[in-house]
Amino acid sequence: MSTPQPTVVVYGATGYTGKLVVAELAARSVPLVLAGRSAERLRAVAATLPDGVEAIVEAPIDDHAALQGAAGRGSVVVNCAGPFARTGTAVLRAAAAAGAHYVDTTGEQDWIARVLGEHDAELRAADVAAVPGMGFDYLPGDLLCNVVGAPLGPLRRLDVAYHVEGFGMTRGTQRSALEMLDGRDVVYEDGALKPGGTKPLRASVEFPAPIGRRTVGRYPAGEVVTAPKHLDVRTIAARISTVSIAPGPAAPLVPYATPVVARLLRTPLKGLIDRAIERLPEGPPEDERRAVRWTILVTATAEDGGSSTGVVRGPDIYGLTARTISDAAQALGSGAVTARGGLAPAQAFDARRTLDALADFGVTYEVDGVAGAATAATAGAATTTSRGVSA
Ligand SMILES: NC(=O)c1ccc[n+]([C@@H]2O[C@H](COP(=O)([O-])OP(=O)(O)OC[C@H]3O[C@@H](n4cnc5c(N)ncnc54)[C@H](OP(=O)(O)O)[C@@H]3O)[C@@H](O)[C@H]2O)c1
Repeated sequence: MSTPQPTVVVYGATGYTGKLVVAELAARSVPLVLAGRSAERLRAVAATLPDGVEAIVEAPIDDHAALQGAAGRGSVVVNCAGPFARTGTAVLRAAAAAGAHYVDTTGEQDWIARVLGEHDAELRAADVAAVPGMGFDYLPGDLLCNVVGAPLGPLRRLDVAYHVEGFGMTRGTQRSALEMLDGRDVVYEDGALKPGGTKPLRASVEFPAPIGRRTVGRYPAGEVVTAPKHLDVRTIAARISTVSIAPGPAAPLVPYATPVVARLLRTPLKGLIDRAIERLPEGPPEDERRAVRWTILVTATAEDGGSSTGVVRGPDIYGLTARTISDAAQALGSGAVTARGGLAPAQAFDARRTLDALADFGVTYEVDGVAGAATAATAGAATTTSRGVSA
């Protein structure tokens, strides 16, 4: 007889990503509670699932009792409702109050820093684990930082560089990008988080072939706040190729435009852009979503001068997010994660085994030219505890 699966509560189940997460969990026969601000929209999502759901709970973001009631119906809350600058605290607090673990799809560095920092004590007191940023942002990058950096001992620096091809953003990602661009990003220098500043960056990074050398801009990536949680590191620099953000002739302008945008977003213009986003399509159609290709390059330099380089690649940013979020929810719900508090992905899950387990999704990685599975074999690969993620 198989053990019954723990119930997962999905908040923001009506969004582009929420619907992918719900479909993924339903395909694994995970009992689901769908929560969000509109019962009508939640019912429409439930109607797409062949086996239905355990419950639908309408819980507006400013109603703590309703949010806690929803969270209390499961052992894990998956938060897919962004921007997290606007929804994160309420959903996280409700999960902690209900004694449920928490995982989310955020790409917002500022929110990740808050979960790992200011919310850590209340999460530990509630005896729960919270892992923000368990999707494409920033699971593979954070895990690769650990795989590349940990064997070198104390690190002088970590350099993380992203390159994405064919990325069509959802409305939710565009709204979250607005939050991220308004100048609250941080950098990690000399062992401390510091304000990112607005100086344009003029730099390039040599990505592995066939990508080659690309102009890059500053990137308020999650690894800047997550990697110091599991690595002894002095400085972290995160970059993104400018063509990833603005393909075509606008790419060279990205480093100069970012500081201007940050200033503009502290004006009423932000509200106007927000309303304009509402009129855009929900997100890319399935074929375009699956066609996206991404590459993350991590170089670690040790205090003693040694260095190591890793690359992780894969497809389908939103599909991968649904996969890894579902894996994490199942692992948290089954008790496979023993750490408590606000956790970086590589604190909650074994870095190498979790990357290896994503091979069937098309995620591949290599360290100093040796393919991931081969390096895992020499390091002594262990068993996985649930599909994809391993505690
Ligand atoms: N970085 C990554 O790898 C990655 C991948 C996927 C998603 N994400 C992030 O996940 C978030 C969602 O993305 P998406 O593409 O699914 O966006 P979306 O399609 O716009 O969906 C947003 C969801 O959040 C809910 N929501 C928004 N504001 C809310 C509020 N004030 N109160 C209650 N519910 C609220 C919406 O509910 P209604 O339907 O009721 O409006 C909807 O369910 C974004 O922050 C995005 O950046 C990140």
